[in-house]
Amino acid sequence: MSQAKQNAAHAALELVEDGMTLGLGSGSTAELFIALLGKQIRQGMSLRGVPTSEATADCARQHNVPLIEPDKVDRIHLTVDGADEVDPEFNLIKGGGACLLREKIIAHASDRMAVIVDASKMKKNLGAFPLPVEVDPFGMALTAEKILLALQESKCRGTDTTLRQNKAGTGPLITDGGHYILDCKCELIPDPAQTAQLLSQIPGVMEHGLFIGLAAYVIVGAPDHAKIMEIKAA
Ligand code: A5P
Repeated sequence: MSQAKQNAAHAALELVEDGMTLGLGSGSTAELFIALLGKQIRQGMSLRGVPTSEATADCARQHNVPLIEPDKVDRIHLTVDGADEVDPEFNLIKGGGACLLREKIIAHASDRMAVIVDASKMKKNLGAFPLPVEVDPFGMALTAEKILLALQESKCRGTDTTLRQNKAGTGPLITDGGHYILDCKCELIPDPAQTAQLLSQIPGVMEHGLFIGLAAYVIVGAPDHAKIMEIKAA
């Protein structure tokens, strides 16, 4: 695991306070953070987590981080999660690990979201990473056509969708929520907010991987340090 991701995860502890309920993100960087939370708990901190995926719940159990179901919390103080791309306005592409729907539900319900990444995820523009879109399997080809139209309308380059396959190569990947993922080649997303809005209007789209205006902090790890950046107030 890269030291840069480790440093980003470690720096996120600065935002964690005793007694917090934390949204626990998914992916390799988020799992490093969960391991560090386990250490804090062993040292006496009282924390509990709301997991954004089954894999994250397993990871939290492994590190003895107490879990609470989303429907049982009255407040999530902070969510800490990774990302696939981050732009200068803290807009994100997420979903490389196929957990974007639950990640967005929890991030949206949190007081604040902190994103932990290594410097390779920082981009001038979003879109080089194929945009994951979680869709209902019913009528998926119809939904895919509408997605292509939305991408074209919002001037994304190189529009094309691919149905993500499971790791075993035996068929489509099924998300924790029972949906499929379409990875959308965009190359460049010139107006992420517009693309997000158009995708959200398509009935078969359960959620898309554009996280607009959700991140309050971006923590960028380098091999020997990490930098915490906070969004400027509008
Ligand atoms: C999970 O669906 C994703 O949103 C991850 O947060 C994202 O892919 C980052 O993963 P890594 O931390 O493994 O790079």
